[in-house]
Amino acid sequence: MRIYAPTLLLAGIGAVIGRSTKPNFIFIMTDDQDMHMNSLDYQQAVQKHFVQEGTWFKKHFCTVSQCCPSRVSLLTGKAAHNTNVTDVLPPYVGGYPKFVEQGFNEDYLPLWLQEAGYNTYYTGKMMNSHSINTYEKPRIKGWNASDFLIDPGTYSYCNASMTRNHEPYRYLPGQYSTDVIADNAVEFLGDAIAASDRPFFLGVAPIGPHSETFAEETPTGALLTFAPPVPAKRHAHLFSNVTIPRTPNFNPDAPGTASYLKTLRQLNQSEIDYNDDWYRKRLQTLQAVEDLVESIMARLTASPEVLANTYLIYTSDNGFHLSQHRLPPGKSCGIEEDTNIPFLIRGPGIAKAAVEHIPSSHTDIVPTLFHLAGIPLRADFDGEPIPVTRTMQQYTAKSEHVNIEFWGLHRVEGNIFFGQNQHVNNTYKTVRVISDDYNLAYTVWCTNEHELYDMTHDPYQMTNLYNNTNTNTNTTLNTWPIQTLKSRLNALLLTLKRCKGRDCTRPWTKLHPRGNVKNLKDAMHMRYDKFYLEHQPPVTFSECALGQILGTEGSLEPVAWREEWDSWSWAT
Ligand SMILES: *[C@@H]1O[C@H](CO)[C@@H](O)[C@H](O)[C@H]1NC(C)=O
Ligand SMILES: *[C@@H]1O[C@H](CO)[C@@H](O)[C@H](O)[C@H]1NC(C)=O
Ligand SMILES: *[C@@H]1O[C@H](CO)[C@@H](O)[C@H](O)[C@H]1NC(C)=O
Ligand SMILES: *[C@@H]1O[C@H](CO)[C@@H](O)[C@H](O)[C@H]1NC(C)=O
Ligand SMILES: *[C@@H]1O[C@H](CO)[C@@H](O)[C@H](O)[C@H]1NC(C)=O
Ligand SMILES: *[C@@H]1O[C@H](CO)[C@@H](O)[C@H](O)[C@H]1NC(C)=O
Ligand SMILES: *[C@@H]1O[C@H](CO)[C@@H](O)[C@H](O)[C@H]1NC(C)=O
Ligand SMILES: *[C@@H]1O[C@H](CO)[C@@H](O)[C@H](O)[C@H]1NC(C)=O
Repeated sequence: MRIYAPTLLLAGIGAVIGRSTKPNFIFIMTDDQDMHMNSLDYQQAVQKHFVQEGTWFKKHFCTVSQCCPSRVSLLTGKAAHNTNVTDVLPPYVGGYPKFVEQGFNEDYLPLWLQEAGYNTYYTGKMMNSHSINTYEKPRIKGWNASDFLIDPGTYSYCNASMTRNHEPYRYLPGQYSTDVIADNAVEFLGDAIAASDRPFFLGVAPIGPHSETFAEETPTGALLTFAPPVPAKRHAHLFSNVTIPRTPNFNPDAPGTASYLKTLRQLNQSEIDYNDDWYRKRLQTLQAVEDLVESIMARLTASPEVLANTYLIYTSDNGFHLSQHRLPPGKSCGIEEDTNIPFLIRGPGIAKAAVEHIPSSHTDIVPTLFHLAGIPLRADFDGEPIPVTRTMQQYTAKSEHVNIEFWGLHRVEGNIFFGQNQHVNNTYKTVRVISDDYNLAYTVWCTNEHELYDMTHDPYQMTNLYNNTNTNTNTTLNTWPIQTLKSRLNALLLTLKRCKGRDCTRPWTKLHPRGNVKNLKDAMHMRYDKFYLEHQPPVTFSECALGQILGTEGSLEPVAWREEWDSWSWAT
């Protein structure tokens, strides 16, 4: 008895403490918010509550620059090539029906959190094609309480369609969408705090600063029409003299170097004015998000013991471009504007007013939440915990790459002037490699064109180095001949394109199973030249498919290192 009593007592205490000490999560996700056009500079509430009180991960990326594929990846911790939710519309139907078809309505974040003892709440946009026709076919699972924006009014700022706790949908004419989401968030937060025996997750997903979009369902799929975002009346006068930052890649004199980017003409003054107006409207719509952030913080501040045990995240599903590389309003490109997005986190153990440059992506978010909640990581996660707290930084060596992928069309959102409302040949694979010593972006397009940028010296992606055969290029690639570097990046991309689980976070170990090559710098060693230059198949495509059709994607697997290819033994 003496032996068992303390054990039982400890187990009992552990169970109680385990429940009450698991942290809460509030996850705020805007829609299409950029980082590269400085939208956060116009957000005093985000500055005050996140930038000052938390850590800003400045090298955070979405792995697929489009709402639905990005959100499904985020909610499952899986790469889009593993969810195969790759688009929002037919022919490779993305959206809610595909999410259900792929089995994720039985197996995703809120269900996992409920199993771990959480109450879960969500308000705002979940994903595309979650609509008045699909929201009961079947019901989305996993939420204790919810109020979803659903199509066709998801992106109707002043006439949203919503379904609350699976009740019959309603339209909200005359109510400003983001304000409705803010009220819901505060109400759910009150419920979550009242149910104090369980920790909570609250997802808050307003549509600002997405374009005002109407998604009309037709027999052949939804038809999208786009217009600039619509601010709340109280914000419509703001920023009247602000324009898009005139970065070097703003409507440049030379076109891009690959696929349809080569064909874009320079924007004329009417188009630039149109884009500047669009930009101001984005900043104005973000002011309602500011009010939403303040409302949530006010409610939390009233319950200091809850605030002290809550992690808050502020991010976006993907980025946005407006005139960079001559592009009209839109997303879905692999460029920094579309993929490198806000990610800020505050909470227990997280450094305040800190900036981090560790690369991370949306597939890392669920693993991060699991880690913080003390839930064992799943083997099928394609991401890994971001070392957000000081204790995590001591033992987590995060990988140095981010895998970005895309299949399908580039939809032009501001199509008043531009004539064309979509571009084909927008299927591509990109890898970003970021360390203290190098910062690279490498892309293979479905047209088999390539791009390679030295992001340290060329952050605006103006000089494609792919064909630069000058081995003395004055960049951080310094001693690395471009040809040799390309062979390593090709192998990395080849490893990542179909990776699952640990191969996604430790791709160099798949290439070098002995584990002695851990990063690009290791792989650049000359003893591996023969292996990479002569024995690794290239990443190629045989056509520009609109979905993930493996038969069009060339070699699917890399070749692993063999001793006989050692360039040292071969040289001697
Ligand atoms: C992805 O889904 C499409 C159907 O939408 C299918 O044709 C394709 O084979 C799937 N790809 C993979 C890799 O499962
Ligand atoms: C939330 O849902 C979970 C799973 O169904 C359930 O165990 C829990 O009791 C619910 N919480 C509340 C407050 O109803
Ligand atoms: C709101 O949208 C619905 C669906 O398009 C439409 O039937 C209704 O007339 C709209 N209401 C207003 C006030 O615009
Ligand atoms: C806009 O006008 C305000 C007030 O006149 C001024 O302080 C600010 O610098 C101007 N901003 C720009 C971008 O011109
Ligand atoms: C810009 O181009 C559009 C489309 O060709 C045209 O309608 C518009 O008049 C042009 N504006 C200027 C200022 O040239
Ligand atoms: C798309 O790419 C294919 C293959 O490279 C090319 O033949 C075709 O002309 C391109 N289409 C457009 C509209 O650029
Ligand atoms: C690089 O060179 C290849 C082969 O000459 C050519 O087909 C391709 O268009 C070039 N790419 C760029 C970006 O210049
Ligand atoms: C070349 O490298 C030096 C040292 O890093 C740097 O100061 C200079 O700006 C670089 N020049 C170009 C053209 O990139």
